[in-house]
Amino acid sequence: MRKPYIAGNWKMNMSPSEGRAYASSLLEAVKDAKADVKMMVAPPFVTIPAVMDVLKDSPIIVAAQNMADHDKGAYTGEVSPLFLIDLGVKTVILGHSERRQYYGETNESINRKILLALSHNMEVVYCVGETLEEREAGKLEEILKAQLEVGLKDVKAEEMGSVVIAYEPVWAIGTGKTATPEDADSAHAFIRKTVESLYSKDIAEKLIIQYGGSVKANNVKALMAKENIDGALVGGASLSVDDFLPILTFDK
Ligand code: PGA
Repeated sequence: MRKPYIAGNWKMNMSPSEGRAYASSLLEAVKDAKADVKMMVAPPFVTIPAVMDVLKDSPIIVAAQNMADHDKGAYTGEVSPLFLIDLGVKTVILGHSERRQYYGETNESINRKILLALSHNMEVVYCVGETLEEREAGKLEEILKAQLEVGLKDVKAEEMGSVVIAYEPVWAIGTGKTATPEDADSAHAFIRKTVESLYSKDIAEKLIIQYGGSVKANNVKALMAKENIDGALVGGASLSVDDFLPILTFDK
């Protein structure tokens, strides 16, 4: 049985003071609602300390949205995984489509980050997904396969317990267009099958695969009802407690 894993990716939203206030109200709301899912929020780097301050002994995981592919050195503007660990961060989102699209990240560069994060025993949420152009050209499976094969290259079987895959069709992110639960489930099934061929049936069956792309309170339940959808990576709707709480408590 895979426990649902719901995550909020704040992207470049929420200053340290806004993040602190949000974290306090989310914590209160979650305590009352007793959400029975694994929960995570991913604030911007500079907002992490304020949010960690509030959530450190809580059931809500505080994650980073990215990290450097080196531990330290002359990499101006980058943030080391060691600095994140020093703040108590144990989870990192890697390979988000916005990082691929706007900052030139590739399956190869993301693979370096994945290997480094895992070497530090961090949990990785690895984002994959196709653009509209790729989907329309019939390349969905080819793209996902390459993202998985290259992104997970040299990741050992025993490290796969620390890897979560987030399937985010690029055309569904922030657009209000969600993949239908059926389309999302079939992409998830393909991801699981690919992971099985790269690793084993057991690893594939335990793999948590989140769906991301315009997840809202009104579509989360139908998505989560699908066999291969084990969670959600939520952008826009994670930015207010009123919107995020019903997603965290979707099964209530
Ligand atoms: P969205 O973003 O929920 O605003 O579509 C999802 C994501 O990019 O993680």
